[in-house]
Amino acid sequence: MSEFAFTDEQRAGVYRAISERRDMRHFSGGEVAPELLARLLEAAHQAPSVGLMQPWRFVRISRPELRNAIAELVEQERHLTAAALGERGEAFMKLKVEGIHDCAELLVVALMDGRETHVFGRRTLPEMDIASAACAIQNLWLAARAEGLGMGWVSLFDPDALANLLQMPVGAKPVAVICLGPVLEFYPAPMLKLEGWTEPRPLSELLFEDFWGQQS
Ligand SMILES: Cc1cc2nc3c(=O)[nH]c(=O)nc-3n(C[C@H](O)[C@H](O)[C@H](O)COP(=O)(O)O)c2cc1C
Repeated sequence: MSEFAFTDEQRAGVYRAISERRDMRHFSGGEVAPELLARLLEAAHQAPSVGLMQPWRFVRISRPELRNAIAELVEQERHLTAAALGERGEAFMKLKVEGIHDCAELLVVALMDGRETHVFGRRTLPEMDIASAACAIQNLWLAARAEGLGMGWVSLFDPDALANLLQMPVGAKPVAVICLGPVLEFYPAPMLKLEGWTEPRPLSELLFEDFWGQQS
């Protein structure tokens, strides 16, 4: 055991947050205390980022009319996604894919404008900006779970329409609508598994040695 390791109890807490984090779509209203929300956003902001560019921008949605407009954008995309799914469209429409109206806090995470000036680590992989923002969102997710709050990442929306709605500058791009808040319970497994939409694959199928597809 490394001398830098956390205590047994602390490590158990970290692994528990990771394994019991769920993408939540059912919320019980209520509220998130301002100091708790600040703590969660600070956790998100401590994420790693390519070249330390910190590409994330958080927009807290407080106006009910904006929340309704975001819900409407998601609803439009839900129907377009169902149409694109073809024969699975009907089953998709039965899934709950967001909790926008019921969550205590609604956030939008966007990539900043002017990202093209950041070349470090992005010359061949420009998408490392969104990877960095995803790290921030995961920090938020895990911290929220540790605090007993549910969180859901909604990506069913037209980014241009959402950017326009929130008066984002040219070049900024929303990547997540985040539903956050108290829940009555956490799903015991991914909801898409519980609903029979898909089966998660075990790590053993996704772990290779030396060459793609080669397993030890
Ligand atoms: C980038 C990203 C986008 C997602 N977008 C949606 C979404 O729009 N709607 C939804 O219901 N779930 C969304 N999810 C949640 C996934 O469906 C969920 O993470 C997956 O089914 C595994 O469940 P778990 O997070 O509870 O382990 C998203 C997750 C990620 C990482």
